Amino acid sequence: MKVLVAGGAGFIGSCYVRLAIRAGHAVVVLDKLTYAGRRENLREVEDAIEFVEAAIEDAATVREVAAGCDAIVNFAAESHVDRSIADQDAFARTHVIGTGVLLDAVRELRIARYLQVSTDEVYGSIGEGSFTEESPLSPSSPYSATKAAGDLLVGAHVRTHGIDAVICRGSNNYGSRQYPEKLVPLAILNALAGDAVPVYGDGRQVRNWLYVEDFARAIDVVLREGRPGAVYNAGGPDEAENLDLVRRIVELCGAGESLIERVRDRPGHDRRYSLSSDRLRELGWEPATRLADGLPRTVSWYRENEWWWGPIRSGEYREYYERQYGRRLRGG
Ligand code: NAD
Ligand code: TYD
Repeated sequence: MKVLVAGGAGFIGSCYVRLAIRAGHAVVVLDKLTYAGRRENLREVEDAIEFVEAAIEDAATVREVAAGCDAIVNFAAESHVDRSIADQDAFARTHVIGTGVLLDAVRELRIARYLQVSTDEVYGSIGEGSFTEESPLSPSSPYSATKAAGDLLVGAHVRTHGIDAVICRGSNNYGSRQYPEKLVPLAILNALAGDAVPVYGDGRQVRNWLYVEDFARAIDVVLREGRPGAVYNAGGPDEAENLDLVRRIVELCGAGESLIERVRDRPGHDRRYSLSSDRLRELGWEPATRLADGLPRTVSWYRENEWWWGPIRSGEYREYYERQYGRRLRGG
């Protein structure tokens, strides 16, 4: 199978690309290389893939690159909630306009299969129990609202144009190569450096943690075996409150809890995410890595790969960090 992987230079996309190469697929990566997209994420498979630097909104390039592909898997996204609160423009462009361009290419070029990578955040927050694929969409942030719009566009193209498309919604991912704006790598790198670790609000928000390799496998299963037009949830095996998770990270980094600092909450902060993955389990998928194994493995990866995060921490990220946390950590 020849697969076009949009957003394949990011955290999850690059993990999927490594899996697809191991499975013997031909892979073309199309990626705009935003601050979060990095060629070095594809270092191990560089010789096995074709790489095209372009945005998914670029219809002419998408058509050229997609011609002859059997499938498109779309990871391309602006992926950080806090950035979407500060400025939503790129989120709408990539998640709505960009997804539309890919769907047009699927229809016009008669591509056999399309997979939209999506998120549990489209369902909004849940107090008790878990969201199923039939739960209504009720997104809280510009990130999740535009992701939900992308999902709705996929459904509309299935019904209106009869394309073969599937959606896979994952819960919070963690693992190697995650950009350090997200909670897990941010806490690891700050703790290793002896810097304050910011926790929003009371820190009692709950996330459903999924090891990135398990999500990549879920996407592979849904691509091969998902029912055309269907949605599949992929939830992690463990839930954790943010404060407890951060305590475990700080300990694994050999730092003290005094580094943990409660800061002003995120506006519109969803309290709890939880997914039921029964539909995907029926296809034989099961998350293999528990937080108790995945978290130490992730901490070790960051400890051993300063070549990867060193340049990130000294570049654009510094300015972002100051904007996002400077005043918060100074009590503002
Ligand atoms: P990421 O930010 O690490 O990677 C996103 C990639 O998309 C980057 O390589 C970036 O350069 C590329 N990109 C962004 N805009 C683009 C555009 N317009 N055209 C082409 N490429 C573009 O994000 P991630 O965490 O790997 O997330 C990948 C996907 O998985 C996203 O769709 C996200 O919504 C979804 N998801 C993420 C999580 C999570 O916890 N990180 C959980 C569930 C679902
Ligand atoms: P994040 O990694 O941004 O993922 P998402 O918003 O997609 O769930 O955040 C995970 C949780 O951690 C979320 O409840 C917000 C919280 N959080 C903090 O408490 N401090 C931080 O510095 C960050 C980035 C997140």
